[in-house]
Amino acid sequence: MSVAIHRPDDQSADAPADALDRARTAAAADPDGYWRDHGRCVDWIVPYREVKDTSFDAADFRIRWFADGQLNVSANCLDRHLATRGDQVAIVWEGDEPGETLRVTYRDLHERVCRFANVLKAQGVAKGDRVTLYLPMIVEAAVAMLACARIGAVHSVVFGGFSPDSLAGRIRDCGSRIVITADEGCRGGKRIPLKANVDAALANCPDVASVLVVRRTGGDVAMTAGRDLWYDEAMAQAAPDCTPELMNAEDPLFILYTSGSTGSPKGVLHTTGGYLVWATKTFRDVFDYRDGEVFWCTADVGWVTGHSYVVYGPLASGATTVMFDGVPNYPDHGRFWETIDRLGVNIFYTAPTAIRALMREGDDWVKRSSRASLRLLGSVGEPINPEAWRWYHDVAGDGRCPIVDTWWQTETGGIMIAPSPHATDAKPGSATKPLPGVQPQLVDAEGQVLEGATEGNLVIADSWPGQMRTVWGDHERFVQTYFTTYPGKYFTGDGARRDADGDYWITGRVDDVINVSGHRMGTAEVESALVAHAKVSEAAVVGMPHDVKGQGIYAYVTLNADTAPSDELRDELRRWVRKEIGPIAVPDALQFAPGLPKTRSGKIMRRILRKIAEGDTSSLGDTSTLADPSVVDALVRDRVG
Ligand code: WTA
Repeated sequence: MSVAIHRPDDQSADAPADALDRARTAAAADPDGYWRDHGRCVDWIVPYREVKDTSFDAADFRIRWFADGQLNVSANCLDRHLATRGDQVAIVWEGDEPGETLRVTYRDLHERVCRFANVLKAQGVAKGDRVTLYLPMIVEAAVAMLACARIGAVHSVVFGGFSPDSLAGRIRDCGSRIVITADEGCRGGKRIPLKANVDAALANCPDVASVLVVRRTGGDVAMTAGRDLWYDEAMAQAAPDCTPELMNAEDPLFILYTSGSTGSPKGVLHTTGGYLVWATKTFRDVFDYRDGEVFWCTADVGWVTGHSYVVYGPLASGATTVMFDGVPNYPDHGRFWETIDRLGVNIFYTAPTAIRALMREGDDWVKRSSRASLRLLGSVGEPINPEAWRWYHDVAGDGRCPIVDTWWQTETGGIMIAPSPHATDAKPGSATKPLPGVQPQLVDAEGQVLEGATEGNLVIADSWPGQMRTVWGDHERFVQTYFTTYPGKYFTGDGARRDADGDYWITGRVDDVINVSGHRMGTAEVESALVAHAKVSEAAVVGMPHDVKGQGIYAYVTLNADTAPSDELRDELRRWVRKEIGPIAVPDALQFAPGLPKTRSGKIMRRILRKIAEGDTSSLGDTSTLADPSVVDALVRDRVG
């Protein structure tokens, strides 16, 4: 079969790896010229003349890309494909049950998006308004995102696994007055009461005036008259066309809440032009997507990976993208591989945690499938250990598919460091080299730039188009969080090693963020949930190594003086965290601690807590600065796990 390469910004006809090297050099030497060319990988209604206008210096801080250009993201993802690929499948939806499959063409998707854009307008949603989405992985999630983009509304997708309280906090923070949800979700054969969660959340969100409810399961749900509307009924009444709003490049596209070292989750704001350029160009460069291929990224749209590589990057590139509403181990451990065969998936992008979980179940589950369609494999979300990498490569990919280990963050909008999809000299566990336009550096604790083969804190020295622009409602927090640790540089929060070939090996977070099954969780969030419980006086949370999840959550809890520790109370506290934040935040280990190791000035020494959680109690380092060194002995003695 011959395949045409759909890549309008293809830069040269020579060896792809060399072309990538050259692109990297060109982008570093002349960012303005490089992006002047490559900004055209998306369609502009009013072409830009300005390209890069950025500075990370406090006195002159600004991040603006293509600022005088105008475009519409939904027109890029839909309208521009209608003439050439209107009947091509845009989204293959695969439900929780194998074979529960739906194929939506670009023409069909376009009509649905236009209709829903009109529904939103009828609900009073205007340009700049925020719209909260709390949905399963169904086509309607993509429709709602694109409909917001079409009319210039700013979507905020909240992962369906978050609790009513977490949802309420995110609704209030961005001031949305409308929520899109479903009756229930289905995950691994279980029902998730999404609408009931929304009802509970809205008890604390007085400004929400309307809720649109998709019928996913047909389950019985309460509808509040005057506030709640069925999605299908509203769609039936809406007109099937809607002119895309003309958006400035720097107009907001979406907010996505993510956990940081301190405080409540931050509303990461991405804008229209730079984000779309980044999602589109990285999708093409990293996955080398070829016309007609089926691309499957297993992430949920509640996370950034789902935004950039289920929806925006693939659709802006005219790809066929899979939306999966299930889990890797339902109905059995062969689900991924069986689905790959059935849908003819060519490129498969998933997280190390899923790979490790499936690896443990043995190779037979994989070998029942042919996986003959697979050409390329990808990994994202956390460091991939070499053992999992080899299994992914040798067993899942039959030893013939390259693996792209992609490092990036919610804040970066898209992939930043990744191997070439053509590389033959793979290094298991290394994300290898920055993409063109990305300037990583390793610095020591004082901010001194380290050269050559070394290890340090990963910073990015200059702006790239897909960079987040601000924290919603708190620009000061944005500058403070990312640009003051190492002034003039974006600090990623990750540590990394660089080898003699200049390849990067991400070692994990160096701040108080933990990465549980590829999901970010702030230790401070879990701590504040714990101390909100009436029987808890103090809590400290750290990460610990976990065979499948990458990192698990280890909580040290000091109870009120009149409360005795018990297994029942431990279970109660776990349930409490689940209710306060959601299942992903539930501690894997919870140790009752009569006291926490503190300095004389009252600061908790997390270094010691991390060591104990890791089971590495032989090298606790200097404990002489502690106010009461004896608490450490008690902690070591009562260690759980
Ligand atoms: C981690 C997910 C090692 C990292 C796209 C980062 C990785 C955090 C990799 C961002 C990788 C992501 N290798 N670590 N390939 N990809 N990470 O915001 O610690 O959910 O800072 O974005 O995940 O998580 P986030």
